Amino acid sequence: MKVIKISSDILECEKSELSVEDSKLVKSSEDFLKNAYAPYSKFSVSAAVLLDNGIIINGTNQENAASPSGTCAERTAIFYANSQYPKNKVLAIAISAFFNGEIISSPITPCGACRQVILETETRYSSPIKIILSAKNKCLIINSIKDILPLTFTSEYLS
Ligand code: THU
Repeated sequence: MKVIKISSDILECEKSELSVEDSKLVKSSEDFLKNAYAPYSKFSVSAAVLLDNGIIINGTNQENAASPSGTCAERTAIFYANSQYPKNKVLAIAISAFFNGEIISSPITPCGACRQVILETETRYSSPIKIILSAKNKCLIINSIKDILPLTFTSEYLS
């Protein structure tokens, strides 16, 4: 028997250290927080997806009285982007959240279902997706979903 260690590099930075492009994506996700529909959790989440044609697609969480019928911001944005622009690679996604009247102080990370969808999108376009998790001042930058979803299940297992 042997131990397999899994590790990954995640960058933590101040918002002021972001590149112009990343900062624009984060700002875009924050601007759309107001469009979240979160009457049950009161936890608004917004995702901004950057495509390789330069277009930014926004999505927010959309809740439902029958909770599993709602969906997270990340999946709203990615599915919309892939529906509108199926030929365009997803280059990056910025995620922000709002709770109790303000932008959260520590970044939230995507839920398991959203990680799996981001993985599928990376696989589909054969290109890693940069994930920028933003909070009030601090950000985390992840270079590929594989860094936070080890031992992935992909279509390779189905062939
Ligand atoms: N939520 C997201 O939109 N994205 C995440 O990564 C985590 C959670 C939403 C789902 C639900 O509407 C609310 O946040 C509370 O779980």
